[in-house]
Amino acid sequence: MSVIDELGAIRERALARIADATDLKGLDEVRVAVSGRKGELTAILHGMGALSAEERPQVGKLANEVRAAVEGALAARREELAASELRQRMAAEAVDVTLPGRRAPLGHEHLINSIIEEMEDFFCGIGYTVMDGPRVETEYYNFTALNTPPDHPSRSARDTFYVVDESEGADGLPTTGVIGESNVLLRTQTSGVQVHAMEAGEPPIYMIAPGTVFRPDQADPNHLPQFHQVEGLVVDKGITFGDLKGTLDAFSREMFGQDRQIRYRPHFFPFTEPSCEVDVSCGVCHGKGCRFCKNTGWLEILGAGMVDPNVLRMSGIDPEVYSGFAFGIGVERVACLRYDLPDLRMLVQGDMRFLRQF
Ligand code: PHE
Repeated sequence: MSVIDELGAIRERALARIADATDLKGLDEVRVAVSGRKGELTAILHGMGALSAEERPQVGKLANEVRAAVEGALAARREELAASELRQRMAAEAVDVTLPGRRAPLGHEHLINSIIEEMEDFFCGIGYTVMDGPRVETEYYNFTALNTPPDHPSRSARDTFYVVDESEGADGLPTTGVIGESNVLLRTQTSGVQVHAMEAGEPPIYMIAPGTVFRPDQADPNHLPQFHQVEGLVVDKGITFGDLKGTLDAFSREMFGQDRQIRYRPHFFPFTEPSCEVDVSCGVCHGKGCRFCKNTGWLEILGAGMVDPNVLRMSGIDPEVYSGFAFGIGVERVACLRYDLPDLRMLVQGDMRFLRQF
């Protein structure tokens, strides 16, 4: 085969391979095969010296044409392939902006919080303010300023979570019998906020204080070591038990409906005198007695009473001028009463199937 024919064959082969190439890598292989260091065209150019004087310019001219043709074809095909690769990639990576967005899983307001909010709405509606108080309290606010005697059983480490300094006793319990007013504890009731409210401002005081309280109880269907109360305090001139009763009657009817019976049962609290507990008639059996109300027909929802003069005096309020009443509502109790919850632990398990029902 003459060199001229060989050059023609190189061109045909190269152009055919270029046309067939499906990617940029394939094209580069053609380029190397033709004009790489060991390429076919390179070999012919290197062999030019062996040609005769007439052949040399002819072959040189043709070789240049072949190279130009191959390079032109490579460039054109490269552009084509690059464009189609881009098209493919854009198609593969395309974002469909018309698809609906991914929905972030939404939580649900907790039943206890929505009941607290409802109580806030009621009391704000009759002119009360909402206060917050510390969950970690001193013994003074949780007990002493509430007229609780030093030997009252509720002060014991069995009934109260103390924040104990490890150095205090080998058994990890605070030294018994020593009442330190600055002992730190997790509040067992929201009643300490009464004291904060009386210290913070002059009467008239009309406030509620919702919040978490803690007691060393094993969680079971009827107990949680952490639950919620809404404290209430009114201090003004001429406040009577009638005001207490009118207020709590209105509150109970608002929460449980007009058809519910409400009864006031005498009770004892160190910080109120007289004191009572308020029961609402059982909504499950309507007072006939059932498992839910332990066959009494009634469910207790709150403790209340007239603020003890000692408590007013300790917080700097003159009991000769002012009187007041206080109450503490068990929020979990209200939840149970309203929704017939079989187990209090459902309130802390965070199961959305439970929470979404309310
Ligand atoms: N603090 C009392 C309790 O936890 C409830 C209460 C509050 C009673 C205010 C009277 C007045 O049981």
